[in-house]
Amino acid sequence: MARNRHSGATPPGPGVIERLGQARRLLSEDVTSVLTRTRERYGPVVDLTMPSGDPGVLLAEPSAVQHVLEGNPDNYRRASVYREELSELFGDGLLTSEGDLWHRQHRLIRPMFGSGSVQSFTDLIVDETDAMLDRWASRDEIDLLQEMERVTLSIIGTAMFSADVERHAEDIRAALQVLRRGFQREVGVVPTFPEWVPSPHNRRMQRAIDDIDAVVHELIDARRGRAEEYDDLLSKLLTARTDEGARMDDEQIRDELVTFLLAGHETTAAALTWTWYLLANNPGVHERLHDHVADADPTDVVGFSAGTAGDESLLKQCVQEAMRIYPPVPVVTREAIDRDEVAGYEIPAGAEVVLSQFVVHRDPDLWEDPLAYRPERFAPGAREEQPAYSFFPFGGGQRICIGRLFALAEAQLILARVVSDVRLTLRSPTHDTPAVDSAVTMVPDEPVEMAVTEWS
Ligand code: HEM
Repeated sequence: MARNRHSGATPPGPGVIERLGQARRLLSEDVTSVLTRTRERYGPVVDLTMPSGDPGVLLAEPSAVQHVLEGNPDNYRRASVYREELSELFGDGLLTSEGDLWHRQHRLIRPMFGSGSVQSFTDLIVDETDAMLDRWASRDEIDLLQEMERVTLSIIGTAMFSADVERHAEDIRAALQVLRRGFQREVGVVPTFPEWVPSPHNRRMQRAIDDIDAVVHELIDARRGRAEEYDDLLSKLLTARTDEGARMDDEQIRDELVTFLLAGHETTAAALTWTWYLLANNPGVHERLHDHVADADPTDVVGFSAGTAGDESLLKQCVQEAMRIYPPVPVVTREAIDRDEVAGYEIPAGAEVVLSQFVVHRDPDLWEDPLAYRPERFAPGAREEQPAYSFFPFGGGQRICIGRLFALAEAQLILARVVSDVRLTLRSPTHDTPAVDSAVTMVPDEPVEMAVTEWS
């Protein structure tokens, strides 16, 4: 690679004055547009040192992403956003923990999201989707993101707690709304006080976390001694034992459950919202998909029988292509522990390393006509020439998303069920490039209104 001639050099990047402007834009604009412009101007490896002098690097080249996630992962720990903002809510759950604790928990939890376990959730996903379709029967227009968040929250809630969660569903939904808005603010333009200051914002956030904790602890207490009667994630966490026979304490179970609750629904809701947005704008694909699933048993079209959650399915291709253009998680960040060299450039110790799905997935050198929605890019065999990590919606390496099979199966089942039943047509936004909000997961920054009609 030509860049290796710069072995050990600082990557190109903005000068001091421009950095000040860039830092301001990072606070006032969506992070994905700033990173895209940065990549266009300086290439895929960019020095993002902050005006404060804190080192940072954008890595938007597949081999560089692979190096950080797979090649030398022990040198890259969770970045400060995981250790500070996210751990306030997730505690020591799987997303935020590190080291021995993460290894132990990962070994215990991984089987709960394997393909066999995911298949056991099929009926639940189909039932919740049918309940949503019943709700839609009396309406001719829906707010798509709201509906997707509602159905995916019901699904993950029931997968965790069975029917016990029903009477708490509204409280959980309300608390999650507060947290989402709160996180948006914490990473947004309006400065917020450190969490120990009793500001109205911090009090609201704390109340929402307390509300969720109260529900989760009540559900854990109610289940104690009856875990064997259920086959949901709570029972699996309560009965899991390490090789030495140790069990998780209640705080650890709480942290894992809250992590699944949040990580497990917003992302899938975002993936589905963008899938429908793109299908509505590409009626030819939408109709092909309808023909593909009409009158079929959803579990057949999802292809569980192959044990691969539908590698051959057009449904899966439609979801993957949507996650390429609009990755629900548009960046993952790490902090370099020691100095490293990536793609011939120096990564200083302590640098914040930004790996961007959004930028890589839209790179015209990797994807021809990158904004065109073409699910056939993911047809069997179509990506053989493509470098690893040109598509990484679920991250990679040992910290790859543990819920990815669950998410893909869920998205395909919901899509199959809805597409065979009703046609969703876009009412708004009608302009080509909807504003995005990437503060938490990447979602449209304006309501996506869909008309619900019969297929003619
Ligand atoms: C389309 C849906 C989803 C997307 C795009 C997504 C994306 C991701 C990404 C990019 C990561 C890696 C973060 C990093 O390396 O810093 C991650 C981790 C994680 N995800 Fe997902 N996710 C989805 C659905 C789910 C679901 C359904 C669950 C659980 C029910 C889940 C649970 C987790 C957990 C626990 C981690 C942390 C794993 C670890 O560090 O060991 N996700 N996800």
